[in-house]
Formats: sequence, structure tokens, C-alpha cells
Amino acid sequence: MKRSDRPSRLETSVRCTAIAVLVAASASVALAQDDAKIKAGLEIWKSSGCADCHGAFADGDKQRDEAPTGANLRTSRLDTATLKQTISCGRPGADMPAFDEGAYQVRACYGKPLGPAPDNLYPAPRTLSPADIDLVIAYLQARIIGRGRITRDECLAYYAGDLDSSCDDIK
Ligand code: HEC
Repeated sequence: MKRSDRPSRLETSVRCTAIAVLVAASASVALAQDDAKIKAGLEIWKSSGCADCHGAFADGDKQRDEAPTGANLRTSRLDTATLKQTISCGRPGADMPAFDEGAYQVRACYGKPLGPAPDNLYPAPRTLSPADIDLVIAYLQARIIGRGRITRDECLAYYAGDLDSSCDDIK
């Protein structure tokens, strides 16, 4: 290699800086996308009746007295695939509704051949698309599962200015 073909030290450092800037920028785009997903998932959580049975903070302290008592999701150990199956297909006979509009009939559940949904499923308050179910899972994994007890900051963030007094007895 001739002396002049070699990149100068300045050129090399400009290149390295450019690469570092690109890497940092794409990392922050990825973070922003994750944030958007988590926020969208929270909106689905709030608008799908999950809190009626599981409680606003998914700790099993249900919000609607007449609803079945949902599991404490903060201590759930389910992996992504099992979360998806549970939310999509529900738990027949155990009061967890199937939220996938195509569960059992269009998309198979629990390894069974396609067919009518079991009749011992608790009726779903609404149905969700598979993409919506992925968003609610992103929210649960980021903010709920394995997070221990709800903190006052998490409570205030959940209500985002409305009903702040609901957080009064949380330390
Ligand atoms: C009508 C009440 C009800 C509604 C509404 C409901 N759930 Fe459930 N859910 C339950 C019950 C009850 C269980 C526990 C079932 C059992 O005993 O196996 C459960 C279990 C689960 C589990 C499994 C937890 C584990 O660790 O085994 C997940 C995940 C879950 N629900 C997520 C959701 C999400 C997300 C929503 C809203 C899209 C939702 N649920 C809405 C009642 C409900």
C-alpha cells in the first residue's frame, strides 16, 4: 500500500465518529420504538377489560367487584409464547377469556385442530388482533411481570394526571 492510500489518522477518527453516531442514533430509534410499543400496549390493557379481573396494576386486585378474580401477573413466570397463547386462547373453564378474534377457528389453540371455540370460555369484553396482543405482551414484559409491588411513581404514571388520588395509599 502506498503511503497516500492509507487513511490518515484524521480520516479514521472522522469515520469512527460517524459510525459511533449512527450506532447511537439507531439505538435510540430502537428505544423510541420500544417505548411506543409499550405505550400502545398500555392503552390496549386499559381498554380491553384486563383490569376488571386483574386489577389496574395486574396484581390480582380486581377493579370490578362482579368480575372473576384474575391472576397476579406481576409474579407470572410465563414466557412470551405462553403469554401469547393464554391471552389469545384464554383458559377454558378458568375464567380467562380468549381475546384473539380468530382463536380456535382461524388460529389453532393448545395444539387442537381448528374448530369451534370451547363453550366454557368466559366471554371476552372485546377481541384483539394478534398484533395488539403482541403490544399488550410488550407492555406486560416491560412494566408488570417480575416488577414486584406497584410503586407510587408507577401508579402516578399509569393514571397520567387523572385519578391521581387513587395513588394516595401507595408508598
Ligand atoms: C373476565 C376476567 C378476566 C379478564 C377480562 C382478563 N383475564 Fe387474564 N386471567 C383471568 C383469570 C381468572 C386467570 C387465571 C386463570 C387460571 O386460573 O388458570 C387469568 C390469567 C391470565 C394470564 C396467565 C397468568 C399466569 O401466570 O398463568 C395472563 C397472562 C392474563 N390472564 C392476561 C390477561 C390480559 C392481557 C387481559 C386483557 C387483554 C386479561 N388477562 C383479561 C381473568 C381475566
